[in-house]
Amino acid sequence: MKQSVLALTLLAFTLVATPFAAEGVKVEKQEWSFQGLRGSYDKDQLLRGYTVFTNVCMACHSAKYVSHRDMMRAGFTEAEVQALAKNLNMNIDQKLLTAQDNQTAVETFGKIPPDLSLMTKARAGLADYTYALLTGYSEDPELIAHTFPKGLPAGAHYNKYFPGHAIAMPNPLTGPDMVTYHDQTPASVEQMAKDVTLFMQWAAEPERIERQHMGLYVILYLVIFTLLAYLTKRVIWKDVKGH
Ligand code: HEC
Repeated sequence: MKQSVLALTLLAFTLVATPFAAEGVKVEKQEWSFQGLRGSYDKDQLLRGYTVFTNVCMACHSAKYVSHRDMMRAGFTEAEVQALAKNLNMNIDQKLLTAQDNQTAVETFGKIPPDLSLMTKARAGLADYTYALLTGYSEDPELIAHTFPKGLPAGAHYNKYFPGHAIAMPNPLTGPDMVTYHDQTPASVEQMAKDVTLFMQWAAEPERIERQHMGLYVILYLVIFTLLAYLTKRVIWKDVKGH
């Protein structure tokens, strides 16, 4: 008797849990400028991403490993980062921390919004996932009813790409022009999502481009070294017959 109760409970649990245990929908691959050996971060796009991050995301999220000074590694001058930091009443060595305290966050969202410094590395799908997540909200009642016949869990929002589809983060990019870009790029939702994802990717691996370029130098060095080794061999063996 006990066993059949246990079996039934397990079965019920499996039936209920299965749809939620399913991983997020497969995310589409995007083109990113930082990929490949010759990858780079476009400074304008990085600045646009920074604009979205500091104006929108930082209301709830921190990037606790990133300071304005770090942006100098991406080609910004000290004067430029000084000016950006000043706009936020920060100095250039302070990390990008949200003003929202943990208690308010827990009361509002039921959890603390995760730090975004390393987020693009932490999730399967990396930058593609972050972009998909930011553009994956839906308020389509039919779609929501289909996934959640009893309604969305309290305080949750429907997101196509979030595992389980119920995310505590309200759609942060609700419409175009939430920010004004320095280079007059129209701030569509997709553009803002793409730019802020690029910024997060850079924040997660500020050394990525240096590493990629280093790789290029290493290859070049190996080619030249091989050539020199070959020439040396020719010189050394030139008097020996048959070589
Ligand atoms: C109003 C507060 C708020 C704002 C603004 C906000 N977020 Fe969030 N975010 C949250 C909360 C809360 C979570 C935790 C969601 C969960 O685990 O259900 C979250 C989670 C995330 C996650 C992790 C998702 C995962 O797979 O676990 C990412 C990525 C993210 N946010 C990116 C952003 C970006 C980028 C912006 C700016 C465009 C932003 N958020 C703006 C509250 C916010």
